[in-house]
Amino acid sequence: MKPAAPIYLDYNATTPLDPAVVEAMRPYQEIHFGNPSSGHVYGRAALAGVTTARAQVAALLGCAPDEVVFTGGGSEADNQALIGVALAHRDRGDHLITTQIEHPAVLETCRYLERRLGFHVTYLPVDQQGQVDPAAVAAAITPRTLLISVMQANNETGVLQPIAAIAEIARRRGVLMHTDAAQSVGKVPVDVAALGVDLLAVAGHKLYAPKGVGVLYVRRGTLLDPLIHGAGHEGGRRAGTENVAGIVGLGAACAVAQERLPTERPRLLALRDRLEQALVAAGWERNGHPTERLPNTLNVSLTGAEGEAVLARAERRRLHRLGLPQRPHGAIGRAAGDGPAARAGAGRRAAHPGALDHGVRRGPRGRRARGRRARRAGPAAGGPGGEGVSAPSRPRGCGRGLAARRLRQGHRRWRCPVREEGERDGEARHHVHHYLVSVLPNG
Ligand SMILES: Cc1ncc(COP(=O)(O)O)c(C=O)c1O
Repeated sequence: MKPAAPIYLDYNATTPLDPAVVEAMRPYQEIHFGNPSSGHVYGRAALAGVTTARAQVAALLGCAPDEVVFTGGGSEADNQALIGVALAHRDRGDHLITTQIEHPAVLETCRYLERRLGFHVTYLPVDQQGQVDPAAVAAAITPRTLLISVMQANNETGVLQPIAAIAEIARRRGVLMHTDAAQSVGKVPVDVAALGVDLLAVAGHKLYAPKGVGVLYVRRGTLLDPLIHGAGHEGGRRAGTENVAGIVGLGAACAVAQERLPTERPRLLALRDRLEQALVAAGWERNGHPTERLPNTLNVSLTGAEGEAVLARAERRRLHRLGLPQRPHGAIGRAAGDGPAARAGAGRRAAHPGALDHGVRRGPRGRRARGRRARRAGPAAGGPGGEGVSAPSRPRGCGRGLAARRLRQGHRRWRCPVREEGERDGEARHHVHHYLVSVLPNG
C-alpha cells in the first residue's frame, strides 16, 4: 500500500495559503502590479487592493482602518511596537514588563533594548498552567514603566493570557499595552476594543496568508518612533513600497477567518479534544490550562521517556521537514513539565477526526492484519469498497529507539485506550508512541 503523507499538525509554525487568498492575490501579481503611491490607473488599482485589505483586517480586529499598519511579518510588528514605544517615550521612562514565555520576536527585542539602549525589562514567570498573574503585572509597574507586552496565546502550549485584565491595569496606571496575537488571530475572536490594548501584532502566515506580511494595530493617538525610515507610507509609520499582493492576501485571509470562525473553532476543538483524550488516557500529560487554550493546540509531555532519545529519533526520521523538534526551555519548560514535550497544532486541512484517530488506532502491522481489519470493519471504515483513509505503512526503524524501548519495558502507567481486538498491549502502545513521534515534533 502506498504510504500516506504525514498528517500536518504544525499549523502553529505556519499554514498553507487558503484558496481564496491565492485567488485574491493573483491579479495583484499579474495585472495590478502598479505602485500604490503612483497617481495613474495602475497605481490606483494597487492602492484599491491595499485599501480593501486594510478594511478587511480592521473588520476582523474591530478597529478603524487607519489604525492598521502593514509590516513585513509578526516579528517586525513586535519589534516596531516595543522599540517604537521605547524610543518615542524615553523621556518619560526606561522600563518595560513582559513574560518569560514570549516568542523570541518579543524576548530578543527586549534584550536588545536592555543591552544596546539602556532600558530595563521585567520578565514575569507563568504559573503551572502557563498563565501570568495580572496581580504580578500590577506589582511590577513602576513610575518609569512605559509598556507592558504579554502575548495573547502562547505558540507552544496555546495557553491564552488574561489580556483584558492586564490591559485594564495598564490603562489605570498610564502604561501602554501591547499583545502579540500572532497565534490567536483567526483561531479565537480578537477584538482590540474588548481586549483594551494599544498595540497588537498579527503574523499573516499563521492564518493562511503569505509569509512576510503582518500587521501592527496602533490605537489612534499612540505615539511610536518608526522602525523603518523613508517615504511616508502607512501614514509615516512604516516606510517602503507596499507588498501589495501579500497585503491583499492578508486582507482576504482575515475575511475568510471572520466568516469561518464560528464553525472552525468548534471543529478544531473537537479534533484537539479527541486527540488529547486518547493521548492522556495512554499516559501522556497535557501541558497548559485545561480550557484557556487555543482550540487547535495540544501540548503533551511523556513522563519516563528520555527527551534526547525522542528528539534523536525524530531527527533520524527527518521530521525536521515538519519543524525541528526543540526541548521545552525556560519558563515554557517548567509549564510543560520535565519530559520531552510535543506540540500538535491542527488547522483547516487537519481533515476529520477519523484521520487523527487513524494514527492512534493503527493496530497490528502487516498486510494480512490490515486485510483482516478492513474486512471486519467493512466499507464505511475503508474496508473493501469503502473510501476511508488508507493506512500509512510503517516507516523503517519504528520502535527501535531508546524511548520506545523504555516505553515497552518500564513505563507502567502506559495504557493504550485504543487497543484493537486481538492486539496485545505492547503493540498498541508502540503504535501510539510511534504516531506521536511521527507527527508531533515540536516542543
Ligand atoms: C507568538 C509569535 N509571535 C511572533 C511570531 C513571528 O512571526 P513572523 O514569523 O511572521 O515574523 C511568531 C511566529 O512563529 C509567533 O508564533
